[in-house]
Amino acid sequence: MKVIVCKDYNEVAEKSAALIIKEMIINDSLKIGLATGSSPIGLYKNLIAAYNSNLISFRNVITFNLDEYVGIDRKHPQSYYSFMYENLFKHIDIKEKNINIPNNDLSRMDELAAEYEGKLLGNQRDIQVLGIGKNGHIGFNEPGTALSSETFIIELDEQTRIDNSRFFRSLDEVPKYAITMGIKNIMYAKKIIMIATGKAKAKIINEAINGEIREEVPASILQLHPDLIVVLDEEAASEIENLDIINL
Ligand code: GLP
Repeated sequence: MKVIVCKDYNEVAEKSAALIIKEMIINDSLKIGLATGSSPIGLYKNLIAAYNSNLISFRNVITFNLDEYVGIDRKHPQSYYSFMYENLFKHIDIKEKNINIPNNDLSRMDELAAEYEGKLLGNQRDIQVLGIGKNGHIGFNEPGTALSSETFIIELDEQTRIDNSRFFRSLDEVPKYAITMGIKNIMYAKKIIMIATGKAKAKIINEAINGEIREEVPASILQLHPDLIVVLDEEAASEIENLDIINL
């Protein structure tokens, strides 16, 4: 594991984007796993800027998003489908057919997880971008999820719904369910870049990095990944106990 500590959110965005841009220059057909939430928005802005400067192209890139709400339409402004178009896809030259976001069509509920799982299995991600929930979730793998989980439909934690209610008019509007890649799918990526910023993430970041690997802290399994880079601002890194040793 490598931990990069940055001054602030903007530097986290620049450094994490630089890691991806470097790989895209070497290989223009990368398969990239993407995340939503506030954490990666700055990263995406930097990717868009690199695209606008003709440094990179997404023409041959294939993307796979981690998760999607179930119970709101894809066209809802807070769906992860809308998030991705607003914050990245509409600004770049990615082909529609190369965008993969879990389908959340309620009329086909029984098929959705297996359908996405099939896509993931044949397409190992070169890079997986990750955020982390305050409760240690990755994607929407909430505490208690089996570390061997594959794509599934999950009932969201109350804490997660409260955290995400800032994007909706009220807590009642926040979906109760989501479809998410499983932890096993996330671990299958060749490289993982996890980003977190702000004091509210400090405690869980230390637990994820230094704590016992356990289902109660889904992100703790990342300790076992052979190529994990954690990009943090000073606040999110402020409770890491043995940073010097980790970065040896
Ligand atoms: C959301 C997403 C996660 C994300 C996390 C943190 O619920 N499902 O993929 O990493 O919460 O979000 P934020 O970056 O806004 O703190």
